[in-house]
Amino acid sequence: MTLNATAETTRDPVASVPERAPIADPAPRTGLVEITDVHKSYGDQEVLHGITLRVEPGQVITLLGPSGSGKSTLLRAINHLETIDAGSITIDGDYIGYERRGGVLHELPEKQVLQRRTRVGMVFQNFNLFPHLTALENIIEAPIGVKRASRQDAIAQARTLLERVGLADRADHYPRQLSGGQQQRVAIARALALTPDVLLFDEPTSALDPELVAEVLSVIRDLAHSGTTLIIVTHEIGFAAEIADHVVFLDAGRVVEQGPPAQVLRAPEEARTQEFLDWVI
Ligand SMILES: Nc1ncnc2c1ncn2[C@@H]1O[C@H](COP(=O)(O)OP(=O)(O)OP(=O)(O)O)[C@@H](O)[C@H]1O
Ligand SMILES: [Mg+2]
Repeated sequence: MTLNATAETTRDPVASVPERAPIADPAPRTGLVEITDVHKSYGDQEVLHGITLRVEPGQVITLLGPSGSGKSTLLRAINHLETIDAGSITIDGDYIGYERRGGVLHELPEKQVLQRRTRVGMVFQNFNLFPHLTALENIIEAPIGVKRASRQDAIAQARTLLERVGLADRADHYPRQLSGGQQQRVAIARALALTPDVLLFDEPTSALDPELVAEVLSVIRDLAHSGTTLIIVTHEIGFAAEIADHVVFLDAGRVVEQGPPAQVLRAPEEARTQEFLDWVI
């Protein structure tokens, strides 16, 4: 028997983050989202090198950084679409994909992860709507399937949400019958249907034709003004400057600089941030 096989057979089958020192709970955990010293590798390439961020309730955070800097990986780690190798992420004090036992984080079974993941809504670059479901059916699917809402309640809520994103008249359209901007607005309504604590956007407008960008930004702006907690990855620097309370610049898996937009976007302290801004603007 090889050493590896021995290690494998003695490993706790649910421990995806085994054999690491217990993490002292930083106190007090006041943030809605607490990201603490998160490390993530793919194979032997570490792509997140100890990210620590706090998001307060109602805050709008924009994440900026060059391609490959780890923005999507970090967003995906927040709702446990990616596991992490060290550190921790909590939403209002709770882990999404883990539970702490014996000072170590153990990954939860998929069913429990699905329940907890409803606390985090995610909107992707490419909408990710179910193509065989209408706009309304896309929105009611998770409330009924995961939250056990009644069909009647789910439909009533979906109609309210479609109205909120300006698509009351498109409830029975399939994704292929909608423009990219409309599909993205349905995707936002779908994310809101689970009444998440925080909404994550991964470049929500970068797959859209330029004339459709404004309608999606307008919906996101309304959410920001209504007090929804948002974490937005975007290359729309003007939009970030307008709506963000806090801007985080990531490079090569590290937070290089963070602060209010007036600092990070207008008078960055780090040369690397300025270089990035010169390149994107
Ligand atoms: N599933 C994966 N397997 C292996 N490597 C990955 C995987 N996903 C991402 N990576 C690598 O991790 C690093 C960070 O990728 P990530 O997608 O988080 O970057 P990003 O900042 O979102 O980039 P972009 O602006 O291009 O979307 C990159 O080097 C990428 O190649
Ligand atoms: Mg990305």
